[in-house]
Amino acid sequence: MNKDLMDTIKGRKSVRSYDDVPVGDDVRKDIEEYVKDLPNPFNIPVEFVILDANEHGLSSPVVSGGQLYVAAKVKKGPYADVAFGYSFEKFVLHAWSLGLGTVWIGGTMKREVFEKAAGLEAGEMMPCVSPVGYPAAKRSLKETMMRKGIGADSRLPGEKLFFKDDWGSPLEAPSDMKDILEMVRWAPSAVNKQPWRIIEKDGVWHFYEKKDKGFVNDATGDLQKIDVGIALCHFLMGLEEQRKQAEVKINDPLLKTPSDAEYIASVRVL
Ligand SMILES: Cc1cc2nc3c(=O)[nH]c(=O)nc-3n(C[C@H](O)[C@H](O)[C@H](O)COP(=O)(O)O)c2cc1C
Repeated sequence: MNKDLMDTIKGRKSVRSYDDVPVGDDVRKDIEEYVKDLPNPFNIPVEFVILDANEHGLSSPVVSGGQLYVAAKVKKGPYADVAFGYSFEKFVLHAWSLGLGTVWIGGTMKREVFEKAAGLEAGEMMPCVSPVGYPAAKRSLKETMMRKGIGADSRLPGEKLFFKDDWGSPLEAPSDMKDILEMVRWAPSAVNKQPWRIIEKDGVWHFYEKKDKGFVNDATGDLQKIDVGIALCHFLMGLEEQRKQAEVKINDPLLKTPSDAEYIASVRVL
């Protein structure tokens, strides 16, 4: 296992307090290049826009400092939110590997201002944005309190997330999948709810969304489907690191699904 990916995933934290040091033109170009045509398994285009905070009057009540924001847009439709989560997380991890902080923001912003700046058109949605910049040496008090309130430094244990054959049955993870599941476990999610559940059956890993109330609206789609897209991103990046081929399907659910859960996708490791 490439230690870099595990380090990036486990080391990444949301950054809401930024240094004044601007992101240089070369780094900005690197990001622009990286987010151009970022693929996702659903072949749904996610369009990124890098925005100057001063020029467009962009800010968030949870963010201090920060001169650049990244927004992304996707055409509304089935799997738009899952695809958005997947592609935007690739950007988040790439930024972290360059020493840059980000924080997913789906709620704590003046949405109209960002949507206007991003040039959102009818039929599109811009579920989340993020500042991008160098983390401040010290977190703001507000940020520290917020992290504590959400329990941002911990995650649910694997037993609550990953099952064998059926909902709730414990999974003894095969040794070559342990690191990959650990990468999924550390994915970020809205209010740190970690709504992904994975059931392994006959070598196929079935991804589900365990739904909480209050995460769906017209402007964002389903934020918890975005979270599952993020989890899927970590899973597939982990497989790629291990040079394993995988096939993603969206029509292979298991028979029994609890009423508060929804099937999202299945990954067959080849
Ligand atoms: C889809 C999504 C939406 C989020 N929206 C917000 C938000 O509006 N404001 C905020 O401060 N954090 C937001 N977050 C950040 C989460 O609170 C954070 O990822 C989680 O608490 C875990 O902390 P970590 O990212 O430091 O690991 C969001 C995260 C995701 C994935």
